[in-house]
Amino acid sequence: MKIEEFDAVVVGAGLSGLRAALELSEHWKVAVVSKVHPVRSHSGAAQGGINASLGNTEAGQEDSPEKHAYDTVYGSDYLADQDAVLLMCEEAPKIVIEFESMGAPFSRLDSGLIAQRPFGGAGFPRTCYAADRTGHVLLHTLYEQCVHKNVQFFDEFFLIDLIKVEDQITGILTLDMTSGDLIIFRTGYVILATGGFGKTYKRSTNAIINTGDGVGAAFRAGVPMQDCEFVQFHPTTLYGTNILITEGARGEGGLLYNNLGERFMLDVAPSAKELAPRDIVARAIETEVREGRGFEDAYVHLDLTHLGAERIKERLPGIREISMYFAGVDPINSPIPVQPGQHYSMGGIGTKFDGDVCETILSGLYVIGETACISVHGANRLGGNSLLETAVFGRHVGRFMLDKGLPNLPEVINVMNAEEEAIQTIEKLFTKWENSLGKIPITIQEAMGIALDTKVGVFRTEDELKEAYEEICQLQTEFKNVKISSSKRKFNYGLIRTLELRNMLDIAEVTAFAAMWRKESRGAHSREDYPDRNDEEFLVHSMVTRDEEGNLKLEAKPVKLGHFEVKERVY
Ligand code: FUM
Repeated sequence: MKIEEFDAVVVGAGLSGLRAALELSEHWKVAVVSKVHPVRSHSGAAQGGINASLGNTEAGQEDSPEKHAYDTVYGSDYLADQDAVLLMCEEAPKIVIEFESMGAPFSRLDSGLIAQRPFGGAGFPRTCYAADRTGHVLLHTLYEQCVHKNVQFFDEFFLIDLIKVEDQITGILTLDMTSGDLIIFRTGYVILATGGFGKTYKRSTNAIINTGDGVGAAFRAGVPMQDCEFVQFHPTTLYGTNILITEGARGEGGLLYNNLGERFMLDVAPSAKELAPRDIVARAIETEVREGRGFEDAYVHLDLTHLGAERIKERLPGIREISMYFAGVDPINSPIPVQPGQHYSMGGIGTKFDGDVCETILSGLYVIGETACISVHGANRLGGNSLLETAVFGRHVGRFMLDKGLPNLPEVINVMNAEEEAIQTIEKLFTKWENSLGKIPITIQEAMGIALDTKVGVFRTEDELKEAYEEICQLQTEFKNVKISSSKRKFNYGLIRTLELRNMLDIAEVTAFAAMWRKESRGAHSREDYPDRNDEEFLVHSMVTRDEEGNLKLEAKPVKLGHFEVKERVY
């Protein structure tokens, strides 16, 4: 068995993982383990921008970290932890300037300052951007820095499970996808930064890699999943493929129309209009379609034609290409067909109530980025806050761990026993899957995606949620006999898809379970049978674990309030 030893291991090479590794690499021996090459990470797909109250534009002069934090908490429908939000918004200007000093090619104002555009739910133009490829440029910038600092990368390594002795992390078990060998990384510090898990849904902007591998591994190790009922549906995904059509398109002035030619957002959110938060715009579009005012019973129009060719080519070149290649429309001349689609998960691996914001209940296990529920987004994330979260908490967790110092690991014999047990467990599963006569993973994944799309969507009811939950439990049973068609280990994508599905089914089950429990409407969780927010009973985080009998169990965790008064949201 091959063992690699490091002071800290980061799983995931998107923006949060790279930023954490960069910080730690100054002083420690750090590995970044990722199932894809770092610049293929899904952070690279983020289009619109990163929020910071720089106040660079004329309309943004009065902006401040406090106002950014207020917009974030208000947008979250008060479920965000206010201490974490304040920390994030305070750090935001420094993080963006840090990216600038690393050479990130931001779009510029005539003054030479970083350009900022309006985004949903923001009181000021606060979103810094690089045309409509912001995630791409930030990811490349950070990767260059990590290479420069000699961070060690293990690309195409799949995280199978966490290894622990009692409640202390001692490493991870991985599959080297190219050789097919099982490799142990032994360490007292693991940072999970494996990104989102939108592939649980079928209609999603997420890449094929977004399967929640860190979330699944942490959940199996006994760490709760937090707030998984809060799924963000991006209002404008391209009809047909659900590729993201950035909110930046509305930030630049794009308008939404129904099949009667009406700008329906004027009635829904008279003040914010098309730039209301995503939960509100997604519900408005879904309502237009349900009530027969959509096109082909499926989508509405996002019109950019009035912006003019020059502005579209300069600020939204990627959106133009996507629309032309995947929908056959040039936004210079024609509206883009858009519909809501799963985009982001406000929930994720649960964090401790007492302790650092990135700390979990397992000693040595930290979580950052979309994988984590820190929770800075609460029930609804504002656009432009996710790139921000990745870099702020990546840097933060690195600094926190360096301050804390290296942990004492349990006795080596206990560590080795735990490693051996992890290997035996997965070998048994592999053998079972290889010899099974059951369904292939894609059949189960399709059914899971359809169940979530149709029954745990923008609008929800008890009956539909119950049906989805039962269907997913049935799929869990079928998964026990899942079949992989080849027993070869080298680059066996059938095996990888099966390991991914193991993680996604747990996430899907928890999502439906927590959504049934939350009998209120808050942010992105919109219950038709409980249309009001209910602070008395539900101004809490949901924390779901699996008990020894295999049943899900939900406990509530208090929300950290205290800085901003809880109010009704009106846009
Ligand atoms: O619409 C977008 O460009 C997405 C941004 C985000 O999710 O923050």
